[in-house]
Amino acid sequence: MILCGGRGQRLWPASRDARPKPFLPLVGEHTGLQEAALRARPLAGDGQVLVVGAAGHEPLIREQLAEAGVSATVLLEPAGRDTAAAIAAAAAWVEARHPEGVMVVLPADHHIPDGEGFRSAVQAALPAARNGAIVTLGLRARSASTAMGYIRPAPGPEAVKPVAAFVEKPTTAEAERLIACGALWNSGVFIATARTLMDETRRWAGEVAAAAEAALRAPELEGEVLWLGKAFNQAPRIAFDRAVMERTDRAAVLPVNFPWSDLGAWDAVLEASIRDDAGNSVAAGSRAEGGADVLVRAAPGVRVSVVGLSRVAVVAEPDAVLVCHLDHAQAVREAAVGAQRPF
Ligand code: GDD
Ligand code: MG
Repeated sequence: MILCGGRGQRLWPASRDARPKPFLPLVGEHTGLQEAALRARPLAGDGQVLVVGAAGHEPLIREQLAEAGVSATVLLEPAGRDTAAAIAAAAAWVEARHPEGVMVVLPADHHIPDGEGFRSAVQAALPAARNGAIVTLGLRARSASTAMGYIRPAPGPEAVKPVAAFVEKPTTAEAERLIACGALWNSGVFIATARTLMDETRRWAGEVAAAAEAALRAPELEGEVLWLGKAFNQAPRIAFDRAVMERTDRAAVLPVNFPWSDLGAWDAVLEASIRDDAGNSVAAGSRAEGGADVLVRAAPGVRVSVVGLSRVAVVAEPDAVLVCHLDHAQAVREAAVGAQRPF
C-alpha cells in the first residue's frame, strides 16, 4: 500500500498543490510514486498494489502508474486527513477481503537504491507481522533530526525486537537523548496484517477507524479506482505514527542497514543526488562556481548561476524561486506558506 498524499511543503516551490512531492522526480528519472510502485510490485507477488491519494490527483496517479507499468487499485480521499486515515482506509478495504493478508505500508517519498536489500528486510519481518505485530524497519540514526520518528528497541537476541518506546518527531534534545539510548530512526515502512492495523486503529484512534470504515460503505467504484465516501472527512487529522505507533503495545522493529533517504526536504535531495567533486548537483544549463554542496534545480528554459555560496539550495520555477541555506531546509514549510496561497 502506497501513501501518495500530503503536500510536501518543505519541497516548495517544486512541490505545489497541483503536483506535490509524490509526483515529482526528485532523484533520478522516477517520481516518488513510481519508485514506490516499482518497489511494491515485486513484493506484492500475486497480491495487489494499493495506492491511497487525493481525489484531485487521480489523473496524475493513473498517468504515473501507467508510465511505470504498474497496475494498482487506487483509493481516493475526498480530502487529505493525514496518514492514520489513509492507512485505515486501505486496511479496512483489505480486512474486508483478506483479514490475515499482510500489508506493507510504503511512503512515496523514499529513495532506496538497494531494492534487493529492502525486499529481504520485508521478508524477514513477515513472520512477526503474521503473529500480530506492527513491524517497522529501523534505520541507524544519522543525526538528531527532528523530522523523524525514533524507536527504542527492547534488548534481546531476536532480529525483530519489541519496541520499548516510539517517539514521533521529538525535539533535538530529546532526539539526542534517544540516540544515546540506542534509538533508531523509524523508516515509516509498516508491515502488519490488515486485521492488526485495523484492531490497533480501532483501539487507539477509534474515530479514524470509524471514518475510514464509513467511507468504504458507500464508495463509488470505477474500474480499479474507488472514491472514498464523504464520511472520510470526519477522520481527525493525525499521523499514523502518533495515532497508533506511539500508543500500541504491538509495535516491533527490525533494524536494517541499507542506504535510504526520505526525500522530504532539499538537504535530503542533495544528499541522495549524483554530485560532482565539490558536492554540487546542478541542473543542466545552470552553474555553481566557487562553493560546495550546492543544489540547483531549474525549470526548463530557466538558467541559474550560483557564485561563491556553499550549502545552499536554489530552486527556480517559472513563477517562484527559493534560495535556502541547507541548515534551514526544514523551515521551508513556513517560507512556502507565507510566500504563496494557495500553495
Ligand atoms: N494518502 C495520503 N494522505 N498520504 C499522505 C498524507 C495523506 O493525508 N499525508 C502524507 N502522506 C504520505 C506522504 O506523501 C509520504 O509518502 C508519507 O505519507 C509519509 O508522510 P510524510 O509527511 O513524508 O511523513 P514524514 O516523513 O514527516 O514522517 C514519517 O516518515 C519518517 C521517515 O520517512 C514518519 O513515519 C516518521 O516517523 C518517519 O521517521
Ligand atoms: Mg517523509
